[in-house]
Amino acid sequence: MSGVALRFDDVRFRYPSGTEALRGVSLSIAAGERVAIVGQNGAGKTTLVRHLNRIFVPTSGTVTVGDRPTSGSTIAQMAALVGYVFQNPDEQIFARTVVADVMFGPRNLGAGEEEARERALAALTTVGLADQADAHPHQLSLSERKRVALAGVLAMRTPVLVLDEPTTGQDARGVEMIARVVAEVSAEGRTVVAITHDMDFCVEHFDRVIVMTQGEVRADGAPEQVFGRGDVIEAARVEPPQLMRLAARLGWTERPRTVDAFVDAVPGRGDVGGAGDARGLGGPGASAGA
Ligand SMILES: Nc1ncnc2c1ncn2[C@@H]1O[C@H](COP(=O)(O)OP(=O)(O)OP(=O)(O)O)[C@@H](O)[C@H]1O
Ligand SMILES: [Mg+2]
Repeated sequence: MSGVALRFDDVRFRYPSGTEALRGVSLSIAAGERVAIVGQNGAGKTTLVRHLNRIFVPTSGTVTVGDRPTSGSTIAQMAALVGYVFQNPDEQIFARTVVADVMFGPRNLGAGEEEARERALAALTTVGLADQADAHPHQLSLSERKRVALAGVLAMRTPVLVLDEPTTGQDARGVEMIARVVAEVSAEGRTVVAITHDMDFCVEHFDRVIVMTQGEVRADGAPEQVFGRGDVIEAARVEPPQLMRLAARLGWTERPRTVDAFVDAVPGRGDVGGAGDARGLGGPGASAGA
């Protein structure tokens, strides 16, 4: 299955309470792209992505998924295209058993009982909860319920996967599992959009970061660029990933995104024979060409 493109054209959204949560957002995401959305609490991230499956339609402006504006589609049509995993799983889970909950999506898309069960069990295996298939969701912990919610959307096999703070409350193995899901879904050519407050997760697994502040897109680009902009970081109240902060503190010009990239950038490393030790003191920026 391949992904579809997403587009926001000057999208504004006002809640009935009067809060203007989106103030003219325009952006495009190509089919198969993998994008992280970051920004302070209340920036409008959740409001933005909820436009993708038509939970919300813009107060003004247009949201296009594939080749159709969402305003011209039904919620059922959008559900087949965009799988949205809620920030709070308890807004999503309602069935009495884990497996029934995960089967709901594929069944709703027209899968028969057997196929829906097969897909549900495969998705539960992916998130490490196959042994909890018959449990009542309330017997599970919050982090497990978040994984049930993820499985429910994975079982739908939609061209677009939207994750709203998937790593919150997950332990290291949970985060690793989510990273693997993102990589696998992305390798299939499907479009992945993830909201996250976890900047280390963001830079390790996403090539493009969109920063939101107060209902607007404040920055959009490669993590190295975006996290290099002090004004953006300050305004969005995010902390650059630890490896990048450390590299900056060391005076390097490079901004490594992964532990491996960091280690490779350490002066002297990779210089088998060790002649580079003294020369490396200035950091990778100074030893360019070595
Ligand atoms: N149901 C609602 N009714 C009224 N206002 C809302 C509602 N949901 C969100 N808001 C407001 O809209 C703005 C954007 O909220 P949103 O939840 O989209 O932000 P967010 O970036 O997802 O924040 P967080 O990081 O805390 O999840 C905030 O001012 C918020 O208080
Ligand atoms: Mg949110």
